[in-house]
Amino acid sequence: MTYQERILAAVEYLRPFAQGCVCALTLGSGLSGFTERASGTTVIPYGDIPGFPVSTVPGHAGKMIIGTVAGKKILIMNGRFHFYEGHAPAEIALPVRVMKRLGIRTLILTNAAGGVNTALSPGSMMLISDHINLSGMNPLIGPNDEKDGPRFPDISHLYDPRLLSLAEETASSLGIPLKRGVYCMMSGPSYETPAEIRMIRLLGGDAVGMSTVPEAIAACHAGIRCLAISCITNMAAGILDQPITHEEVLEAGRSGAARFQSLLEGIIGKLSIAD
Ligand code: HPA
Repeated sequence: MTYQERILAAVEYLRPFAQGCVCALTLGSGLSGFTERASGTTVIPYGDIPGFPVSTVPGHAGKMIIGTVAGKKILIMNGRFHFYEGHAPAEIALPVRVMKRLGIRTLILTNAAGGVNTALSPGSMMLISDHINLSGMNPLIGPNDEKDGPRFPDISHLYDPRLLSLAEETASSLGIPLKRGVYCMMSGPSYETPAEIRMIRLLGGDAVGMSTVPEAIAACHAGIRCLAISCITNMAAGILDQPITHEEVLEAGRSGAARFQSLLEGIIGKLSIAD
């Protein structure tokens, strides 16, 4: 199958389930507990979706879940495709392009991230207002099909200003602290060195992680509005004199889960199909 044929095959397969979804939501490491907030679910392993890539990381189950949250029908990607797994850039963009053809106009991206700004602490959340892409890759590298979006998209308002305000209003009405910040993407899979974290801080990064940026760029390219939230699971390398482990990242994601889930549910409840 060609790339475009794969997109169409996935869309054909998913359309009967995904008709009328108000938004899509991608869950990051340790955040998959949110799926329990969805009712009337249809669960589709990525392996069952024709044309879809298959994810490999522990903590990323690799399932699509379509169900109702806060009265809204949504499509959840529980598990994502990371650059560090060896996926080609266009593979990471593929699910976003499928979302576009399914008529989805809003994408909420979540991730686990290391805190670079010392005002952040493990367990806190950060609303991504902008990013710095230090991964060395871009999901739009390769031939461009105008059906997916323009060759040279403007991404200066990648994180939708209206969705940023909506997230802030929701957080403040729930009493959940939520500050805006700049997310810096590194390729991983090693965590960063202390010198890299000092560099990221100098460049204006507040949090660091290994995901989200490619999906956000692909969404903007496709004309999908994007909101992204980081759960700070650890302080980035060199800030505290202790090693960073994947288990710690998963555990912190789980322990901040209740607030994170309430925030997401509140935001989803305020979205409409017209958004
Ligand atoms: N660095 C990169 N990615 C991460 C981190 C980190 O410290 N924590 C969770 N994901």
